[in-house]
Amino acid sequence: MRSPIPDYLAEVHDTCGEFLGGAVADYIPELAAADPDTFAIALATVDGTVYAAGEADHRFTIQSMSKPFTYGVALADRGKDHVLAKVGVEPSGEAFNEISLDPETDQPRNPMINAGAILTHSLVRGEDADDRFEHLRQTFSRIAGHPLPMDEDVFTSEWATTHRNLAMGHMLKAVGVLDIDPVDAVEGYVRQCSITVNCRDLAMMAATLANGGVQPASGELIFSRRVVRQVLSVMTTCGMYDAAGDWLTTVGIPAKSGVSGGIIGALPGQVGIAVFSPRLDQHGNSVRGLRAFERLSRDMGMHLMDVTRDARTSLRGSYVTDGDHPTEVHKVQGDLRFAGVESLVRAVSAQPPRASRVAFDLTRVPEIDDVSTRVLLEVIRRLHLDDGVEVLIIDPDHVLGEHGVEVPYARRLHHVGELTAA
Ligand code: DON
Repeated sequence: MRSPIPDYLAEVHDTCGEFLGGAVADYIPELAAADPDTFAIALATVDGTVYAAGEADHRFTIQSMSKPFTYGVALADRGKDHVLAKVGVEPSGEAFNEISLDPETDQPRNPMINAGAILTHSLVRGEDADDRFEHLRQTFSRIAGHPLPMDEDVFTSEWATTHRNLAMGHMLKAVGVLDIDPVDAVEGYVRQCSITVNCRDLAMMAATLANGGVQPASGELIFSRRVVRQVLSVMTTCGMYDAAGDWLTTVGIPAKSGVSGGIIGALPGQVGIAVFSPRLDQHGNSVRGLRAFERLSRDMGMHLMDVTRDARTSLRGSYVTDGDHPTEVHKVQGDLRFAGVESLVRAVSAQPPRASRVAFDLTRVPEIDDVSTRVLLEVIRRLHLDDGVEVLIIDPDHVLGEHGVEVPYARRLHHVGELTAA
């Protein structure tokens, strides 16, 4: 059987290709030379499979889509407190190139607008400008899965015309928030924006964020989960600039756009998506990119705020077995998170155990998060020590204590059938 997913992407590509509105960015002269009709979509899963439609191998400069990754590197290099003391996390409601600071703190409002991105670039570890850039380029390359070169022509073209960004660099220096030379900071930032990628690379980079910082193909841990959480949060509130509210309500995927015509989106735990088409709307976001994301989000139920499943119905049922060793069995179902484990605990603690043995059947539980693990371990401890019952865990896939966590006060069985033998 041929997978229907590439066919679906091809259909989205065909349909969204009909949108011809918008204009190619020309304030960076070299970008004006882009073919406005180029159009690609790529989707990378958190286990490293990439699906693509259109010109997914076409290379272009990463531009502002570099900003979340540089923010991640700065957070990893300096720590959150240091970074937050320099750059805020509030949406600015302004254009990406607004020459502005928060009047109360003299900080750039967030790392996704240019002022914040120039400052974030300065926070990346490195002896000098070359070192900082190379550290970033190499990290971006590890995230994409192969070496990413810089486009010298685009760099030269932007560097010769980047007066607004230089104004921001000098402003940051003047108010005392930028520690390095302002010209170095802006040059490094423009270099960072001139790193080249294709849609497949970007989808994989977004999938690394979606995968909690682990590059899906290599398995390399690039960013900690805490760093990823910070990056995705800021992408959600500030990634689409002054169109962020519109984007969040219609598409609902943490995202970042770039003036070359790309948009990346990272849906936590599921996929990274990248779309490229150079014609932009008035906010600097790709017109076809927006349409494609709207379609994908709607068709595939990808809106972050969709309340799709009821996490509270974890207890499928309880019964007491017959035989020599009657056992009260609680059948648990679905991923266990706080709301689910709370409902389970409420049901189990509502009345005393109905037998001298209590079993939790976790056969239908794919995953238990940290808080649910802690709560379940405490329930087991209390059942054993306070109520004096023997506790059994039917856990063939080792979902409880998956990461080497001990499960004291309970005996593990591999199959519900073992209850009669046990
Ligand atoms: O600094 C600039 O203006 C460009 N290097 C990047 C701007 C950008 O990509 C804005 N995104 N939509």
